[in-house]
Amino acid sequence: MSQQFIIALSKGRIFNETLPLLAHAGIKPADDPETSRKLILDTNRGDTKLLILRAADVPTYVQYGAADVGVAGKDVLMEHGGEGLYEPVDLRIAKCRLMVAGRAGDINQPQAGVTGRRLRVATKYINSARRYYASKGEQVELIKLYGSMELAPLVGLADRIVDVVDTGNTLKANGLAPLEHIADISSRLIVNKASMKMKHEKVKTFISDIMDAVSRGG
Ligand code: ATP
Ligand code: PRP
Repeated sequence: MSQQFIIALSKGRIFNETLPLLAHAGIKPADDPETSRKLILDTNRGDTKLLILRAADVPTYVQYGAADVGVAGKDVLMEHGGEGLYEPVDLRIAKCRLMVAGRAGDINQPQAGVTGRRLRVATKYINSARRYYASKGEQVELIKLYGSMELAPLVGLADRIVDVVDTGNTLKANGLAPLEHIADISSRLIVNKASMKMKHEKVKTFISDIMDAVSRGG
C-alpha cells in the first residue's frame, strides 16, 4: 500500500490561494470546502488527502503528525511557536501586517495613560503581543479575544488591539487607525519533522513543486 500524504489547510483565503500552488504539484481536491461539509477531502491522487481545519489549528495537526504538511499564516505560526515544525517555503499568499491599532485620534498619543493605569490591549495574538510589548519594555494588560477585535476600543474594553491589517478598511470603518507595525505576514508551508524523514521522497518532491509554483507566481 502506498504511503498516505496529508495536507492541512484552512478554508477561505488560504484554501483559495493555495489551490493554484497545489495544482502545480498535480493535486486537485475532489470537493469544494465552501459547499461540502466534509473535513477530509479526497483529491485526484489516491495517496493524498486534505484536512480542512480552523486556521489556528493547522500548526498543531502538523506538529503532532496528524498531517504531514500544512499551510499557515506567519501570525498563526508566531503564536503557536513552531515546535515540531519545519517552515521551508514562504508561499507569498494571504499577505498582511500584524499591527497595533487604536482610535484614530490616539495616533500622537502612543500611551493611553491618562489615568496612569496600564495600557489595555485586546487581541487573539496574546503571545505575539506579549513579546512585542516586552521588547519595548512596556507593561500592558493583555485581554484575550477570539475575533471582532475592532470592537474592543469602541466600547471601552481596551485602549489598543493587535490584529492583522491588509487594506486598513476594517479599521477605518470602525474609526480606528493602524498605530505600530509588529511584523509582515504571509502564509508558509509547514512540514512535520518526522514526515520529512519518514516520507522523504514524497515531501521533498512536494516542497520542490510548491517552491517552483511560488517562483513562477502561482
Ligand atoms: P478563523 O476564521 O478560523 O477564525 P482566521 O479569521 O484567522 O481564522 P482567515 O481569515 O482565513 O482565518 O485568515 C487566514 C490567514 O490569512 C491569517 O492567519 C492571516 O495570516 C491571513 N489574513 C487574515 N486576514 C487577512 C486579510 N485581510 N488579508 C490578507 N491576509 C489575511
Ligand atoms: C481580517 C482581520 C481584519 C481584516 C483586516 O478579518 O481580522 O478584521 O481581515 O483586513 P483589511 O485591513 O483589508 O480590512 P477577515 O476578513 O479574515 O475576517 P475574519 O477574521 O472574520 O475571518
